[in-house]
Amino acid sequence: MIAIQFVTSPAHGTAVATEVSARPGKSLMEAAVAADIEGIAADCGGAMTCATCHVYVREPWASRLPPPKPEEMAMLEFAAMPRRSNSRLSCPIMLTAALAGITVDLPESQY
Ligand code: FES
Repeated sequence: MIAIQFVTSPAHGTAVATEVSARPGKSLMEAAVAADIEGIAADCGGAMTCATCHVYVREPWASRLPPPKPEEMAMLEFAAMPRRSNSRLSCPIMLTAALAGITVDLPESQY
């Protein structure tokens, strides 16, 4: 199982980290939805057409991810909260052992 930390936005008060475990091969978005993580809406169910699964991936995990494909880059333009250098959609991020402990910050809102 891969451990994941989802950290709430400080805009909602004190940032709170929630740890979740998920099987390798699941997407980061699927892990969030299965654990009812508030802040990941994933309206399109992973079709990469909604940008409501936006996260900010912390280092060193961000550097371990494959670069975003053009369709992810395009969809990030529609993210509700400001895009940062570590902005990613969580639906195309497939969990692997190299991502053990991955920590992501949740945007203040997905809408
Ligand atoms: S779930 Fe819709 S873009 Fe990721």
